Amino acid sequence: MTGLAGKRYWLVGASSGIGRQLALCLAREGTAVAASARSEDALLSLVEDMEPVRTDLGGHAAVAFDVTDSAATIEAFRNVGAVDGVIYCAGAYEPMSATRPDLEALERIVDVNLTGALRVLAACVPEFCRRGSGHVLLIGSLVGYRGLPDAWGYGATKAALMHLAECLLCDLDGSGVRVQICNPGFVESRLTEKNAFRMPFIMTAQEAAARIVRGIARNRHEIAFPFVMATAFRLLSALPRPICSLLLAFGRQRRRRNP
Ligand SMILES: NC(=O)c1ccc[n+]([C@@H]2O[C@H](COP(=O)([O-])OP(=O)(O)OC[C@H]3O[C@@H](n4cnc5c(N)ncnc54)[C@H](OP(=O)(O)O)[C@@H]3O)[C@@H](O)[C@H]2O)c1
Repeated sequence: MTGLAGKRYWLVGASSGIGRQLALCLAREGTAVAASARSEDALLSLVEDMEPVRTDLGGHAAVAFDVTDSAATIEAFRNVGAVDGVIYCAGAYEPMSATRPDLEALERIVDVNLTGALRVLAACVPEFCRRGSGHVLLIGSLVGYRGLPDAWGYGATKAALMHLAECLLCDLDGSGVRVQICNPGFVESRLTEKNAFRMPFIMTAQEAAARIVRGIARNRHEIAFPFVMATAFRLLSALPRPICSLLLAFGRQRRRRNP
């Protein structure tokens, strides 16, 4: 039992990858999903593929919008209708080193990953607080734990999401609104297709979605996986900077030798 049956969620970033699989998984749990992203056709096909679900708040829906547009975000929340919770899974990524910045891509990454999350939260958190119930789940990344090579821009947005979730915890304490953040390792998707390096412990989006659903049921603030990588990242973030730099330099050398 995950406690998700009969609930209705707004899932932003549902058209592909982890978000699409999460929507399918939630529907199998008996959760209605209002699915959002920019690609309307992909959302409509997702709604067709999900197990049909009816809840007191309504059924599945496809609500296409762009999270980089503030007015469109407010309108989308209105069109979605009543929900028990929101999952922010929209994301943009380009592997990038600080030595070769692509400012246009950086601005898009920040706008989608961070400012987009703020737009969505600003639309629904006040409503959740007013009625004294709700659930916020942000999809971050293990990369947010520490500065890493070629994660310029993307890593900063994921660290910011972890900070944002901490702030929400403080501000929503006692409000009846639950806050969680999910920090996955590598997952097969359009985003990881851009990586030229070996990705340890990479898993399918189906596996990641199943772990997220289990994590929602367990109700810990952070859902982090796979275990070995999550533990390594937590240790890395606790290490003194010189030791961490040595380890990262060692990793870089190995990557150069065995790309
Ligand atoms: N793959 C990994 O290894 C990994 C690891 C850790 C965390 N994550 C995080 O997991 C989340 C899902 O990523 P994914 O790997 O599943 O990649 P993905 O398949 O590319 O999914 C990204 C989703 O975000 C939506 N999106 C992007 N820009 C948008 C915009 N401007 N407005 C509305 N929706 C937008 C996309 O839909 P449209 O293009 O249709 O708009 C898509 O549904 C991201 O937050 C990512 O950072 C991924």
